[in-house]
Amino acid sequence: MYKILETRKLAGNIYEMVVEAPRVAKHCLPGQFIIVKLDETSERVPLTICDYNREKGTITIVFQPIGASTHKYEFLKAGDSFMDFVGPLGQPSDLCTDPLEEVKKKKILFVAGGVGTAPVYPQAKWLHEHGIDCDVIIGAKTKNLVILEEEMKKVAANVYVTTDDGSYGRSGMVTKVIDDLIDVEGKEYDHCVAIGPMIMMKFCCLTTKKHNLHTVVSMNPIMVDGTGMCGACRLVVGDEVKFACVDGPEFDGHLVDFDAAMKRATMYKTDEGRALLKEQEGETHHGGCGQCGGDK
Ligand code: NAD
Ligand code: FES
Repeated sequence: MYKILETRKLAGNIYEMVVEAPRVAKHCLPGQFIIVKLDETSERVPLTICDYNREKGTITIVFQPIGASTHKYEFLKAGDSFMDFVGPLGQPSDLCTDPLEEVKKKKILFVAGGVGTAPVYPQAKWLHEHGIDCDVIIGAKTKNLVILEEEMKKVAANVYVTTDDGSYGRSGMVTKVIDDLIDVEGKEYDHCVAIGPMIMMKFCCLTTKKHNLHTVVSMNPIMVDGTGMCGACRLVVGDEVKFACVDGPEFDGHLVDFDAAMKRATMYKTDEGRALLKEQEGETHHGGCGQCGGDK
């Protein structure tokens, strides 16, 4: 069992938990994720790692109750436990595995949208700990949905908060801030990491393409079981078929076919959709979910 040490509400219906998981904490790196399962009857839920403490043996996760299982997490308190807490899974962020001297030369911009601010934080923190500056744009619908602003200010050179309704910080979506920073304020970047809802990552990539700014995105939102078995997170990157939970979650955003990934995620939700995907994708369908028969 994996004991919950702390819980806190970050904003609206966004919650943070610190969980005792020493083996995960010892080996994880920013960009990776874990799978939690509360009890025998709950679903497995893949969640990106928001922070870790190797000395204390803890992992911090952030979640938004959207399904039956994550709704149960909302009521958990310190002292309760998860039955399973598996990880670290997926590939770490390139920024944390590329040669440090190369990363030090980059001018890095993070774009963190809503709950996607949580997986941005450990990357910015890791860079800070290695003496590398970065700028961070945090976008939220409205003031009371901005998360981790103070934490981010401690690890980033500049934090630019923007709200869609203009109730706090700048006004408008994160894409407007990218344009303003580069076109109006004369900022220069050569590496961008955009993490948030799929639609945000799609439009961030269209924006950064204009600025010829290499952009990495996290395809965590299309994952289901997170183990490479269900086939839910299949996506096309350039001309290659990838699986977000095994090959990612981070990919070159300018090569990701967002429209296809979003359409596929919707189709995957129904029996009929999965059957059609099996037909269309043939051998690369990679079913293992036991529902569509793709593994037979
Ligand atoms: P949200 O809908 O409030 O969006 C956050 C910000 O994204 C907005 O404030 C805006 O600045 C920007 N944005 C949204 N739509 C945009 C558009 N069309 N063009 C430009 N910018 C746009 O975010 P939320 O409600 O916190 O998002 C929840 C989603 O985040 C879930 O669907 C979840 O799957 C996803 N998520 C993704 C990751 C990841 O690793 N990519 C991690 C956690 C959560
Ligand atoms: Fe990647 Fe299931 S989430 S295969």
